[in-house]
Amino acid sequence: MVLRSRQVGPLIQYTYSQKVPGAAIQSSEVNLFRLENTLIDAGSEPCAPLLLDEIGDDPPDSILLTHQHEDHVGGVPALRRHFGALPVFAPEEHCQILREGYFVPDYRRNFWGDMHPFDKLSPYSAGAEFRTKSYVMNTHNTPGHTVGHKAIWFEADRLYVISGDVYLAPRLPNALYETSVPDMIESLEWLLSLGSHFVLCPSHGGPYDDGPRRVGQLLEWYRKQQEEILEIQAKNPGASYHDIFRIRHGHYNRMEIHSGGELSRLALIRGVVDPVRSLPAEPIALDPDLVEISKRKLGL
Ligand SMILES: [Fe+2]
Repeated sequence: MVLRSRQVGPLIQYTYSQKVPGAAIQSSEVNLFRLENTLIDAGSEPCAPLLLDEIGDDPPDSILLTHQHEDHVGGVPALRRHFGALPVFAPEEHCQILREGYFVPDYRRNFWGDMHPFDKLSPYSAGAEFRTKSYVMNTHNTPGHTVGHKAIWFEADRLYVISGDVYLAPRLPNALYETSVPDMIESLEWLLSLGSHFVLCPSHGGPYDDGPRRVGQLLEWYRKQQEEILEIQAKNPGASYHDIFRIRHGHYNRMEIHSGGELSRLALIRGVVDPVRSLPAEPIALDPDLVEISKRKLGL
């Protein structure tokens, strides 16, 4: 387990990583940021002790969350134990989930730990502004990865966009089961509307000086997936997302089997034909016969 820090303009980016050879997810890198005295996201549960080694003597005055996933919020309880009653601003759509907690499956828990519920949240909605000593952070609703996800941006020497999990890679064949592709396309279009130059600061990977180019790549990829999936649907009236999966891909891949369908091409297809618009999302069940066939094919 390692925590690296680097200066990105006025931001400090903390990157936690843990390598688990042979596991379904090869690298568990996750970023959180600090702008003056505000932490943006709180990192995962196992990241917290390393983060406290770095910032334990330099308390932040608040935490601003992009969304409810455990790799972004898991550190909150430990940070509050150390720093006291730290205000935590969370998207209003996620406050109930954060208060109640949720089950974290093994394939995620192995890397990002658990999610222990926490209370005393300050809900915020899209458009809310957060001020540090020198900067004003703006927020915008950016659903698609999950309902209620928020992106944060501010002007300094350049425009900085903290994009949470909107941008993960130029293409993402395995989508999360909370995916809405039309919403993701809209969120990426909105990111592009911020201008032709911005520093993209995602939660996994980066930072990237060529933010608009990368966002544009991912946008094109999603548009193409949507078009292809809708074409299959049009040729096969009444086909379910499972049927479209069989026509398009045939077999499950390794990640689909390890995650029980949570991270899958099935979720991408469902995200096109039946986008997730409220939480909790309906789980995705894999076909047990196809799991066996796919395992044999993959030599698992
Ligand atoms: Fe996420």
